[in-house]
Amino acid sequence: KIVPVVMAGGKGTRLWPLSRAAAAKQFIRFLGDETLLQKTLLRVSDETLYDAPLVVTNEDFRFLVAEQARELNVKLDGIVLEPEARNTAAAVAAAAVIVSQRHGRDALIQILPSDHEITVDDPYRACVASAAAAARTGKIVTFGITPTEPATGYGYIEIGAEIGNGVHEVSRFVEKPSADVAQQMLDSGNYAWNSGMFVFSAGRMIEELKALAPEVLAAVEKSVEQAKGDLDFTRLDAETFAEAPSISIDYAVMEKTANAAVVPAAITWSDLGSWDAIWKLAGGDENGNVVSGHATVSDTKNSLVMSREAHLAVQGMDGVAVIASEDAVYVGRLDRSQDVGNLVKLLAADK
Ligand code: GDD
Ligand code: MG
Repeated sequence: KIVPVVMAGGKGTRLWPLSRAAAAKQFIRFLGDETLLQKTLLRVSDETLYDAPLVVTNEDFRFLVAEQARELNVKLDGIVLEPEARNTAAAVAAAAVIVSQRHGRDALIQILPSDHEITVDDPYRACVASAAAAARTGKIVTFGITPTEPATGYGYIEIGAEIGNGVHEVSRFVEKPSADVAQQMLDSGNYAWNSGMFVFSAGRMIEELKALAPEVLAAVEKSVEQAKGDLDFTRLDAETFAEAPSISIDYAVMEKTANAAVVPAAITWSDLGSWDAIWKLAGGDENGNVVSGHATVSDTKNSLVMSREAHLAVQGMDGVAVIASEDAVYVGRLDRSQDVGNLVKLLAADK
């Protein structure tokens, strides 16, 4: 079985105003009844494939995580609390060290971002099974998504020779390339996007971190050793955890390791990184509109219109996002929704 490790410590500012510092993207209901974190927990609820999940998150989000798991009646293996955000390398390191202590060095881990939309179907299950088999032989396995545009917010994986069972070598891993490089990789046809999920054994990840990011591992090992546990929470020691350099697992390990492998994955995946992605995933009505909550549209097409509480009416628009939360409204072109993060920085500076 695989121990699912859910990464739930990120902020996700591009979905302002629904995602805020106090309620990051993973804790929000965008479409449907469950939040993205809840959808992630349900994705790993198949007990024939998975053990109980471990959630790694920021101290600030502890009640949100506990509450949202309780709502689903999902029993967690625990919630690991980071005293401050030190990025995903430290979070993955903490998970690897803790899983290794609880389940042994050979235990398999699947890292799952908590803010994606993925359909669990037979192709997904087949990919996870192939990944697990390769992880047992010491590989760190990624899931490769067929790229559709020269996006600069993803990792790119050059797919090498097949090792077997649908798993390929990784010739090269390039995290968040420039626009030019992204275009070249898209044109070459040999690259996949990194989905953000990884499968590996606890021991393999610890060895890679020891070789490639020793300062991250050393700090995290100390913070786990001095952690305080109460109820379901494991509180990592603040002073030692703060010594971990802030770097993502993609830069720290995936770009450098010789043990990466990739399953080209025919899975339905969206990283829901922007309003545009949510609009695409939801699929519009006959006018291309996605309308949710207290909203009405007229003479409008190809737009995303959402309101939590206030009545929102939109007229004569094409290709826009109009999003109203309890206390804030965003209006912008859907094709500019990658830039919302910059806008949020301006807003923060205004305060
Ligand atoms: N516990 C914890 N602590 N979780 C974190 C932290 C942290 O400090 N920072 C981010 N996370 C969580 C986020 O909530 C998210 O679920 C996941 O880790 C990935 O972080 P992102 O910040 O969303 O990464 P990204 O989208 O920029 O890039 C990653 O995902 C892409 C696919 O969406 C990379 O793996 C890329 O290579 C990949 O293409
Ligand atoms: Mg992301």
